Amino acid sequence: MTFGLGRMRRALRHLGSARVPAGSPRATAPRSRWRRRAGNAARMVVALLLVGGVYAAVAPGVQANVASQPSAEDIAEGKAIYDASCITCHGRNGQGVEGRGPSLIGVGSAAVEFQVATGRMPAARQDAQVERKPPRYTREQAQAIGAYIQSLGGGPELPDETDEQIVAGGDIANGGRLFRVNCSSCHAFGAGGGALSSGKFAPSLANSTPRDVWAAMLTGPQNMPVFGNNQLSPQEKRDIAAYIYTLQTDPDPGGWGIGRLGPAAEGVAIFLIGMVALVLATLWIVGKQQ
Ligand code: HEC
Ligand code: HEC
Repeated sequence: MTFGLGRMRRALRHLGSARVPAGSPRATAPRSRWRRRAGNAARMVVALLLVGGVYAAVAPGVQANVASQPSAEDIAEGKAIYDASCITCHGRNGQGVEGRGPSLIGVGSAAVEFQVATGRMPAARQDAQVERKPPRYTREQAQAIGAYIQSLGGGPELPDETDEQIVAGGDIANGGRLFRVNCSSCHAFGAGGGALSSGKFAPSLANSTPRDVWAAMLTGPQNMPVFGNNQLSPQEKRDIAAYIYTLQTDPDPGGWGIGRLGPAAEGVAIFLIGMVALVLATLWIVGKQQ
């Protein structure tokens, strides 16, 4: 390999410099600057393509959350229900009505399915908080209204999974850990719920289906924060939903019942019982001595 790359390059350089008088570096400058620029541009394009490709391949939630496309009939059915019982508060085309209900543009089908399937919507009267009540519409109808609202302005969607599939795919131990970190401050350790300020409260999760749990995290109803897919990945949402499902089906997660408020309550209970026992014991001993 005597006629290697080095020799070729040297020969080329010879050719290139042949037209330029030797010893004048300025003469070659414009050409090499142009070449450097072109090289930089090409590198930039390659880098952008690479980054885009890698992002599309690994981006969390992008593929994980595609719901199946709703049919035109679903959307039409949803619009019919919407026009009959939501339009007075949320307005024609969901743009909201001053003083009655917020705009629904961009809230997504997940928020609608959650609000309607948990019976919160259609709202009856204005309280501090719209509560869960027996739903007026079936989950299929709720999903149809959701498809209609989704067609108006997009927004968060639930994955195309049944409750059983969500539970089957969840890691309960990890879900319990995530629940204690992210949710128990409001909903309590056993998901029994708890009070918040100004007459508001975090409800018990005893009746929330796995899809309700997922939708609540995705849409953050009322005073609940949104847990987007950057904070809790779809798999972590699945884990939490599966954990809450086991709490519902196995009502004794261990420890003492006492309201399922968590270890603080147990500590207080033991402290009070212990103090009373000590006082009684002291009185008894003093009584014996007299
Ligand atoms: C009596 C008035 C009223 C009616 C009827 C009503 N809503 Fe609402 N809706 C509200 C109010 C008020 C809120 C805001 C509640 C809150 O967040 O405190 C709301 C909130 C919502 C939200 C949550 C929006 C968000 O930002 O996440 C959705 C979704 C929704 N409604 C859907 C519906 C649908 C679907 C219907 C019909 C089946 C309906 N509503 C009927 C008053 C109403
Ligand atoms: C800052 C307090 C707060 C935190 C933290 C919080 N929530 Fe909530 N959550 C609420 C409130 C308030 C509501 C009631 C919203 C409503 O009625 O529209 C709620 C409602 C819910 C519901 C609906 C219950 C039903 O009626 O079916 C579910 C499910 C839920 N939360 C799950 C979770 C999960 C899971 C987490 C943790 C990832 C979490 N929440 C974290 C305050 C909170």
